[in-house]
Amino acid sequence: MFGKRSLDGPTPTPAAPAVAPPPPVARVQAAVGAKPAPAQAAPRPAAPAAPSAARPAAAAPPAVSANPRMMPSAVDDGSGPEYRSEAYYRVKSTIFNALIETIDLTQLAQLDPESARDEIRDIVAEIISIKNVVMSIAEQEALLDDICNDVLGYGPLEPLLARDDIADIMVNGANAVFIEVNGKISKTGIRFRDNGQLMNICQRIVSQVGRRVDESSPICDARLPDGSRVNVIVPPLAIDGPTLTIRKFKKDKLKLSNLVEFGSISPAGAKILQIIGACRCNVLISGGTGSGKTTLLNTLTAFIDPTERVITCEDAAELQLQQPHVVRLETRPPNLEGSGQVTMRDLVKNCLRMRPERIIVGEVRGSESFDLLQAMNTGHDGSMGTLHANTPREALSRLESMITMGGFSLPPKTIREIIVAAVDVVIQAARLRDGSRRITQITEVLGLEGETIITQDLLVYEIQGEDQNGRITGRHKGTGVGRPRFWERARYFGLEKELAQALDETEQA
Ligand SMILES: Nc1ncnc2c1ncn2[C@@H]1O[C@H](COP(=O)(O)OP(=O)(O)O)[C@@H](O)[C@H]1O
Ligand SMILES: [Mg+2]
Repeated sequence: MFGKRSLDGPTPTPAAPAVAPPPPVARVQAAVGAKPAPAQAAPRPAAPAAPSAARPAAAAPPAVSANPRMMPSAVDDGSGPEYRSEAYYRVKSTIFNALIETIDLTQLAQLDPESARDEIRDIVAEIISIKNVVMSIAEQEALLDDICNDVLGYGPLEPLLARDDIADIMVNGANAVFIEVNGKISKTGIRFRDNGQLMNICQRIVSQVGRRVDESSPICDARLPDGSRVNVIVPPLAIDGPTLTIRKFKKDKLKLSNLVEFGSISPAGAKILQIIGACRCNVLISGGTGSGKTTLLNTLTAFIDPTERVITCEDAAELQLQQPHVVRLETRPPNLEGSGQVTMRDLVKNCLRMRPERIIVGEVRGSESFDLLQAMNTGHDGSMGTLHANTPREALSRLESMITMGGFSLPPKTIREIIVAAVDVVIQAARLRDGSRRITQITEVLGLEGETIITQDLLVYEIQGEDQNGRITGRHKGTGVGRPRFWERARYFGLEKELAQALDETEQA
């Protein structure tokens, strides 16, 4: 069904063997190579393959059969370091070039992904046999998958995107791809043909959200269809080539019980968190990048009463609330002309007119902090947000500076008064040096003494040492507070006995 021509590469040869009588040749366009090819003339029997503008800027293809042992360990099931040899990339590039000269990508685009994949597989298998490439069935399968991914998907990123254990994918130019698994960052064997291919994949990703990256707009945020968050920054700003950062979307968000299993929090600590969520404390979750703030926020929302109306505001929707009455809002970056931006502050302000009972802000970064605090202070108890800081104290001072920098000319003392009136609890998340994520502090905001905000830890994580596998050991220890400030609140919700019991347990830890 596709326009097929001679499959034997740049050297003109009369009628390639084993190819079905060539149907009309339509326009050939590179899928991953950049420019569209010049329109090709209509039916032509076994024409010599004209050098096509569509060809990706890859190295000149070598004689393929000259290197029979080219793929020492090309087979990759997507579960290990994805090693591919130099020779493998050469063969792949030859076959890929032959493929894009053969198929018509506009027609291909009209097929559903399954049939398109089948179509490509057929043609590639044919090319392999015509070119006499020596490879095992398994190697051939790996090559087929890689090529399908290049043409139809996100190329070499596909096997990484398919893995559920990866938290982040970091691409620093064509030859350096890093992943984070279980809190540890490692380099993979994955690479792109060149920066051109990487750039095209970046383009493909951001075009899905109606944007473009190039020298004039070299920074872009986007989202993959599965919900993963993507940031792209390209040359000239990124010096060593297009740089792509993907925070993979986890379909099955961790629950509080999982955090207990992993030792991120003790069972008694989890009970306290549950009470904090249920008795409508206003909560800030503080932590570094990738420390588990969003995950923690999501687990806390599990304890919101199903009757409450909850509104979430996020830069990219990550939270997965299970309640029936949830409105999810998302900010919008400016369009190509630089207009149409909707900021977090716009959303939070608008939220207040939507009769929310709780407002949840994915990440507080700027002037919206003021509106969130106002909301917390005006009857939207149980509102929550995350913010970037290394200790609960720092979180509170960051909040203060966000308000100051947001252009509200209020005296520091007034800002602090607003903060202490609004925030009940700060929960600190951290990623420790062994890669594990822990809740390191549950801290209450007590009030102002003079101009200083007074806080009180309810629970702290004490590091004790390291086990033989290099994993950090420690314990979550209560600080002996008998009656936290939210005691009355807990009592109002009938949870004071549970709270007392959980606090007792933390001290016995
Ligand atoms: N307690 C935890 N134990 C193990 N993995 C976790 C834990 N908390 C979060 N993660 C994982 O860490 C990654 C980053 O978490 P996330 O909550 O998005 O971080 P942040 O919002 O702080 O940047 C996610 O893949 C998440 O599944
Ligand atoms: Mg987050």
